Amino acid sequence: MISERTQVGIVGAGPAGLLLSRLLALAGIDSVVVENRSRAYCEARQRAGLLEDRTVRLLRAAGLADRLDREGLEHGGIYLQFAGERHHLDFRDLVGRTVTVYAQTEIVKDLISERTRAGAALHFDISATEVEGIGTDHPVLRYADADGQRHQVRCDVVAGCDGFHGICRPAMPAGLMTVAERAYPYAWLGILADVPPSTDELIYCRHADGFALHSMRSLEISRLYLQVPLDEDITAWPDDRIWAELWRRFEVPAWELKEGPILEKSVTPMRSFVAAPMRSGRLFLAGDAAHIVPPTGAKGLNLALADVAVLADALVALIRDGDGGPAGAYSAACLSRVWRATHFSWWMTSNLHVPPGQDPMDEQLQLAQLRYVVASRAAATTLAENYCGWPG
Ligand code: PHB
Repeated sequence: MISERTQVGIVGAGPAGLLLSRLLALAGIDSVVVENRSRAYCEARQRAGLLEDRTVRLLRAAGLADRLDREGLEHGGIYLQFAGERHHLDFRDLVGRTVTVYAQTEIVKDLISERTRAGAALHFDISATEVEGIGTDHPVLRYADADGQRHQVRCDVVAGCDGFHGICRPAMPAGLMTVAERAYPYAWLGILADVPPSTDELIYCRHADGFALHSMRSLEISRLYLQVPLDEDITAWPDDRIWAELWRRFEVPAWELKEGPILEKSVTPMRSFVAAPMRSGRLFLAGDAAHIVPPTGAKGLNLALADVAVLADALVALIRDGDGGPAGAYSAACLSRVWRATHFSWWMTSNLHVPPGQDPMDEQLQLAQLRYVVASRAAATTLAENYCGWPG
């Protein structure tokens, strides 16, 4: 067993754990980041792709936005399509704000290369991770490295940034957590396609046969999604069928969907999940370890990065200044934003998807709501304000 010492033990090298390590390093606090996946896996897995303006500012302030500023695509709105008509919502006009398309995988690459350049501790391919002593002043993080060597890291604090299936949430004291959860009765079939996007801004489309979303990763790569039944077998969707269905759902006069080779496809179930509190003693949860939103509002990554911005300040106060006030306020501060985003994501999801066996009442309620959003400046402003991120 190798014994080590750090100030903050960070479980998970996703965007949350990596950004936390960077924000702490900027404040002179050292951390050890451990991740059970490989570096290649972390840098390749397809996840979110849309940043709130606040998230862009946060990455800039952390000195991590060189490539984001060069390659990110700033969008001033979205299209909302329903009943065969496409409407534009102009965020610049409505709320004076924008969002930016820049893939989560690119953020992860930028963060890993920064941490590697700084020579700071970042261990991939680890296993058997355990957290102990969170009720004491020195919790311990244990893991086995890629060679099977056991390590024991004495910490001041452990940050659980290890996602929904991680080990940190289960390490919270039994009986402490309250969980609010909703499973939605549909999934998203997502594709990454080697073809320029057929739209300048994202299209959120409600079609009688289900939701569709046209997103993008760059001016060369498109990202598209189709609502499919829960537990849909991906082999039921050869490429031709996917393009035909995308065409059908997105079709409006004088518009064309460009098709290209499909690089990747996957089916993702949709859920809302919020576990509270996000802190017990010296263990703090951030991002998907504590909460999941359905992807329809593009909030997951933004929430995770908002959590660690609050957490970094709280840990600096706690560790450097001996002030436990901000750490005590951490959970409530994050959950307020999380619940706003959970409501918005639920609202977007429920108004744009067609659940199995939808009755005429529910169908007309959805359409009435969508018509209202594109007709009323007040309603459109509410969508824009939440989509760009609240509080901004
Ligand atoms: C994506 O590009 O993956 C994406 C964009 C917007 C969403 C969800 C996913 O609402």
